Amino acid sequence: VSWRISRSTVGGEAEVPGDKSIAHRALILAGLAGGSSYLTNLPSGADVQSTASCLRALSIEVRVSNGNVEVDPGRGMSAPVQPLDCGNSGTTMRLMAGVLTGQPFGSCLTGDESLSRRPMGRVVDPLTQMGACIRSQDGHPPLHIDGRHLHGVEYTLPMASAQVKSAVLLAGLTARGDTTVTEPLPTRDHTERMLEAAGVEIGRRGRRVTVRGGQRPDPLSGRIPGDPSSAAFLLVAASLTGGGIQMGGVNTNPTRTAYLNLLGRLGVAVSTEERTQAMGEPVGDVTVSGRPVHAFEIGVKDVALMVDELPLLALVATQVPGRSVVSGAEELRYKESDRIECVAEGLSRLGARIQARPDGWVVDGPSRLTGRRVDSRGDHRLAMTLAVAGLIADGETVVDGAEAAEVSYPEFQRTLARLGARIDED
Ligand code: S3P
Repeated sequence: VSWRISRSTVGGEAEVPGDKSIAHRALILAGLAGGSSYLTNLPSGADVQSTASCLRALSIEVRVSNGNVEVDPGRGMSAPVQPLDCGNSGTTMRLMAGVLTGQPFGSCLTGDESLSRRPMGRVVDPLTQMGACIRSQDGHPPLHIDGRHLHGVEYTLPMASAQVKSAVLLAGLTARGDTTVTEPLPTRDHTERMLEAAGVEIGRRGRRVTVRGGQRPDPLSGRIPGDPSSAAFLLVAASLTGGGIQMGGVNTNPTRTAYLNLLGRLGVAVSTEERTQAMGEPVGDVTVSGRPVHAFEIGVKDVALMVDELPLLALVATQVPGRSVVSGAEELRYKESDRIECVAEGLSRLGARIQARPDGWVVDGPSRLTGRRVDSRGDHRLAMTLAVAGLIADGETVVDGAEAAEVSYPEFQRTLARLGARIDED
């Protein structure tokens, strides 16, 4: 699938799909719970489907209709007859590894070509310290897991990763004794919030989280809030094209919305208003208007809190006067693509002055972008970043491999078009 995009203004009222990070965790905790859970606004993207189908293969009933989902764990998980296919989803593989190592059966986690290149040693190491038996291919998928009794561990993460933190905490639920994870810098804290919402006792002090083993989560219920990382594409599209946009029901967890604070510092009018809470998360309205006007620096301390929005922020950097620098972001090399190289290559093709560094980019702005043919490199966030770039480029931009967006935001092209974008699919 390719998108053809021309200069246009985006604005109005929008909704975004349910939060992918929350959906993975809600399905998994519901699968471990002592009764049926009922969730609404489940996003339809392929990554979340991967988690749902892994759970089904483990004998957990997951019934989805129109975004409403009932998860009935029945008598609990049982041995899968086939490898569990995580598709493109790193979150599925890493969180499920944490769950499966403590189960009384063997299992195997596999994924697509992109996922098969991503590092899994980061979950294998701490889980092995807990007594797990996992065989990987030199630190890569597939993961062959031999279920074992686990024991608690004190683990300091070598990198800021919410997925690794979550894998260890989920393993800690089935382990004997306490499991404590310390992170080098704060990362998204959805697992901690959701465990608490499910009645699991955890201790949180600064960057340390402790979970006592042998606890079973209560069933969950509620509406999955809108995904702030999907929202980012629409909000930035509106800002860069000079439109205004409002959206309701977005997850406003501060470990996810650091990019909004940054946009505010760049001169964009941003307002967020908390309206309610769901599954331990704050949920509210977000309004954005006006263009960014300042260059910026993002360093290691901010990276984890805006990690999925960095490709889009690189695009923002191409439109503001002066030199912007993103550093401390080598983790981007281990995402669905090597995002440091792929973003630099894609935006350069459109005429941006962007240089890849080992741990980020240097961008000189502002640049007038020119429509060209570019490729998603199979990465959903790159596909959508390039589409937003197309809205401000002269002439026509064609994004090949646009089907990559299906993993997190299948409705993206239609939603953007409804908000005024000239974007067609062929
Ligand atoms: C996620 C954590 C982040 C993020 C990913 C989703 C999560 O990955 O990039 O899109 O749901 O925990 P890392 O833990 O690898 O930083």
